[in-house]
Amino acid sequence: MIGIVGGSGDFGRGLGARLRAAGEEVALGSRTPRDDLIANEDACRDASVVFLSVPPDGVDSMSRGLAPVLGGKIVVSVASPVVFRDGKPGAAPGDVSLAELTATAVPDARVVAGFHTVSAKALAGDGALEEDVLLAGDDADAKAEVARLAGLVVSGRAVDAGRLEVARWIEPLTAVLINVNRNYKAQSGILVTGLP
Ligand SMILES: NC(=O)c1ccc[n+]([C@@H]2O[C@H](COP(=O)([O-])OP(=O)(O)OC[C@H]3O[C@@H](n4cnc5c(N)ncnc54)[C@H](OP(=O)(O)O)[C@@H]3O)[C@@H](O)[C@H]2O)c1
Repeated sequence: MIGIVGGSGDFGRGLGARLRAAGEEVALGSRTPRDDLIANEDACRDASVVFLSVPPDGVDSMSRGLAPVLGGKIVVSVASPVVFRDGKPGAAPGDVSLAELTATAVPDARVVAGFHTVSAKALAGDGALEEDVLLAGDDADAKAEVARLAGLVVSGRAVDAGRLEVARWIEPLTAVLINVNRNYKAQSGILVTGLP
């Protein structure tokens, strides 16, 4: 079972639909359960992997609030520090990554950062996502499981970018791609070349 906290948002819904289409069981969580959305806590409870798909300013408090149900689980942090200034997309990263905030809030969670370069709009479409997913994390087994899930979503590969700290430099890439998308009126992703 996969839980998606913030599963009412465009990213969580798109990711959930892709994972379901690939045969995974997915629970969509929300602060306001309704229709196909259940409480975030309930979406986490029976999940072995939980995607934390809430806006950056909600990551710390949501992680702390859900800590009792996230312990021991693989928690995938997809949050990016995107901000819009005068309508222009940018990034306002903190001293540490959003993924590290979650790791601090839930010390016994197996936190993996990833999917920051996958667009919600692209997820919502039905075409193949011909792109890679960058992953960062300190738990190799957790990263391998998230890489398996990434392989269900994109036709590229899951690229191991290293330890969780690397999330500091992956997370703001979302803002780069939003700017690219605006310039090209496209849904861009990334492909890492030169790998064996
Ligand atoms: N959109 C993209 O293309 C994209 C790409 C890469 C990464 N990301 C990252 O993925 C995450 C989710 O993206 P999104 O576009 O789906 O975001 P979103 O629509 O702004 O938020 C997702 C859901 O989070 C809940 N939420 C809103 N504010 C919250 C708060 N302060 N605390 C806790 N929960 C809150 C809401 O659900 P309820 O009201 O139902 O609880 C909302 O529907 C973000 O961190 C974003 O940076 C997005």
